[in-house]
Amino acid sequence: MHLPERFALAAAAARKPQFYSLLGRELQALVSGETDWLANLANAAALLYDQLPGLNWAGFYLYKGDELVLGPFQGRPACVRIRPGRGVCGTAFSRRETVVVPDVHHFPGHIACDPASRSEIVVPLIVGGSGDEPAVAAGEQGKEGRDTWVAGVLDLDSPEPGRFDEADARGLEELVRVLIPHVDWRQATALACGDASSS
Ligand code: SME
Repeated sequence: MHLPERFALAAAAARKPQFYSLLGRELQALVSGETDWLANLANAAALLYDQLPGLNWAGFYLYKGDELVLGPFQGRPACVRIRPGRGVCGTAFSRRETVVVPDVHHFPGHIACDPASRSEIVVPLIVGGSGDEPAVAAGEQGKEGRDTWVAGVLDLDSPEPGRFDEADARGLEELVRVLIPHVDWRQATALACGDASSS
């Protein structure tokens, strides 16, 4: 990489915390006062896809039953069901920590929904165990899992190798913390339980 390109990259990385902080305020404004979980997740996916440069997919997988199921997203149609521990999404879910993949071709078990994707970041949605108050996605409290559970993951894909770094991880974890109190996670992860045969 040439020197000017390296400087440009370093400057962009230095600006990321401020950028995510502004995005957090936009997200807060978008979801505050709205209680519909689907509307808030859909708008959050749209905001990220619209505002973050270099993405080809942004969305949520929600934990239902014993697997992650595709939720609101922007981008091309994607695989619907992912088992915990599988792919980047299932790995972040099971580890309860953000996973940054600079090159998906070097991540064993990566699930290729779109062959154009080259890098990926997945942030677990760690929510409070009682009352669904926000829990800490980045910190030790979330990892230990006391009084918390993982409702799903936020997944972002990019056609650029190395698109995501630690600044993106911290910024997106902050955005998830903004979002969490504005979603009814019990409803969002509930299985449809209507019994059509009983009527
Ligand atoms: N690549 C993901 C699957 C989801 S799509 O990227 C939208 C994975 O490996 O879990």
